[in-house]
Parts: sequence; C-alpha cells; structure tokens
Amino acid sequence: MTFLFNSDARRGAVFQEIFARELPDLPFSMEPATVDPNAVRYLISWTVPADLSRYRNLEVLFSIGAGVDQLEITEVPDHVKVVRMVEEGIVRMMQEYATLAVLALHRNLPAYLGQQREQVWKALPQFQAQERRVGVLGLGVLGRAVLERLKPFGFPLSGWSRSVHDIEGVTCHAGDAGLEAMLAETGILVCLLPLTDETRGFLNADLFARLPQGAAVVHAGRGPQLDHEALIAALDDGHLSGAMIDVTDPEPLPAGHAFWSRPRLLLTPHVASVTQPHSAARAVTENIKRMRAGLEPIGLIDRRRGY
Ligand code: NDP
Ligand code: OXD
Repeated sequence: MTFLFNSDARRGAVFQEIFARELPDLPFSMEPATVDPNAVRYLISWTVPADLSRYRNLEVLFSIGAGVDQLEITEVPDHVKVVRMVEEGIVRMMQEYATLAVLALHRNLPAYLGQQREQVWKALPQFQAQERRVGVLGLGVLGRAVLERLKPFGFPLSGWSRSVHDIEGVTCHAGDAGLEAMLAETGILVCLLPLTDETRGFLNADLFARLPQGAAVVHAGRGPQLDHEALIAALDDGHLSGAMIDVTDPEPLPAGHAFWSRPRLLLTPHVASVTQPHSAARAVTENIKRMRAGLEPIGLIDRRRGY
C-alpha cells in the first residue's frame, strides 16, 4: 500500500516528512517511474495523470488544490474517491485576498491608481462600509471563511449557494429567486463558486445588469466563469465601477488582452490562494486516518454535482 505524490518536489519534501511522522506504516513515493503501480492506493495530483490506468488498486485521488475542475473526472474510475484540498493555509490566504479586494474596491483604489498615473489630486465620493453590501457567491469552505473575516468592517453581508444556509450575521440566499434578490442590493460581489456546468459563464452581461449601478466585482473562483467581454463592456459603460480579477480563461492571459491595461480593473495571476504544504500534508494524513477509521474524508467530491 503506497501514497504517490505527483506534484512539485518542494512541497513533496514537506509531505514526505509529515507522512513519515503521522503515518509511518504507509510507504510514500514521489517517483511514478519506479513505484510499483499495483501498490499505489492513494495518489495526490493537480491533474489526472495520463497513465492513471496503471494504478489498478487506486482507492483515493486527492486534488493538490481546493478546486477539482482541472481533474478530468470522467477518466477516474467510479469506485475511486476524489477528494479536494481543504486546509487552513488556503482558507487564510483566500480571506486575505478577498479582504484586500473588497477594501480596495470599497475605497476606490482602482480609480485612485488611474488618477496617480494622470497626476490628478482629487477626492472621490466615499460610501461608508455600512452603506455597501458585500455579496458572496458560494457559501462553501472559502465563501463562509471570507464572510467571517469581513464581519468586523461593518459591511452588510449576503451569500448565495445552491442549498439553504444559515450563517449568523449574513443574509443567506439560495436558488434563482435568492440570486435575484441578492444581486439587486449588492455593492461588491465576490465570486467563490466552483467551476461546474452550471457555473460556466455565470459572470455575464445579464448578471452584471442585475447589480446596482456602480457595483464592483471580485472574481477568485475559476476563469471560465467570467465573460471577459461582458466585464469590459460593463466597466466601459460605467455600470460597474471596478473589478479585481484573479482567474481568467485562458491563463496566463495573452499579450495585448484588454485586462492588462483596462482602467479600474485590478488583475492578479491566479494567486489569491495557494496550497500550503505543511497544513495540506496534515489535512491529507488526517483524511487517511479518517478513512482507516471508517469515516468519509473531508472534501469528498459528489460526482453528480461536480464539486
Ligand atoms: P466548496 O465546495 O466548499 O463550496 C462551493 C460553494 O458553491 C457551496 O456553497 C455550493 O453550494 C456553491 N455552489 C456550487 N454550485 C452552485 C450553483 N450552481 N449554484 C449556487 N451555488 C453553488 O468550495 P470552496 O469554498 O472550498 O472553493 C470554491 C472554489 O474556489 C474552488 O472550487 C476553486 O475553484 C476556487 N479557488 C480559487 C483559488 C484561487 O487562488 N483563485 C484558490 C482556491 C480555490 P452548497 O453549499 O449549497 O453546496
Ligand atoms: C486551488 C487553486 O484550487 O489554487 O487550490 O486555484
């Protein structure tokens, strides 16, 4: 029975050390070329390796990231559990990123960066936090953590998900009617949805039109959820006041793409959150211990839902 690590060597070295301490009876390998494929029960990877069928006795495929859309799940046999990364480092970094983005948009930073380039010294009208509602799309591990971190600033808070949630201090919405209601009163919209058939192209012209005039958008979900042209059009006609975008399609963005130079658009290269090896290795060893105890792993993917 072997755990196969199929990712970068730097993180692999940390995983190896923590596995040796936490699960000393489980052989750990970073060498797909030399491992006995029949011994591999657990595999961690960002994508599905082309030679997955070699691992005939595979039981669990762990994603090295929080998302699983990059794993071509139809290539994974049905009996293999697929488990996404749920670890405190990813959560903490996403809380930082979303707070940075919400405060930057709330305090007009994109417009002030433009004024600085033009050498314009001019105060812009400023809302108070209590006057600007932040709405989060997705109330999973990351969406909930981001809302929790935003609480002390005093923004009215809303969230939207597929199923009904109840979060203290947050107006929770679900379903189509809930989305309509949330968008109509959202000043800053934060997308933390997983990429599925239902969420592909979700941030589009129709959705932007349902936000109030002057709203702003933060996108840290997945690139294919955003219609780039619709975002540019909504910024150009002034309906949206600003945006902070971490994920695009394609990544990296090609030279000359409008996002590189669009005023009032802040762009980061898919760095909102990154798997932290120490906490990730502990999360994975804990999950293996849970499964050995007959429990389901944390982050188990529901293949029908796609997340
Ligand atoms: P979770 O699976 O914990 O949460 C997903 C949330 O989205 C749930 O609340 C779910 O609703 C909701 N949801 C899914 N589909 C729909 C739908 N069709 N309509 C309404 N709500 C929906 O995921 P995480 O919070 O851990 O991560 C979210 C995503 O963030 C990841 O999938 C990944 O794409 C992205 N990410 C981006 C990073 C970056 O650096 N930019 C880093 C890490 C993650 P319900 O609760 O009802 O199931
Ligand atoms: C992730 C990511 O899914 O880095 O973890 O985007």
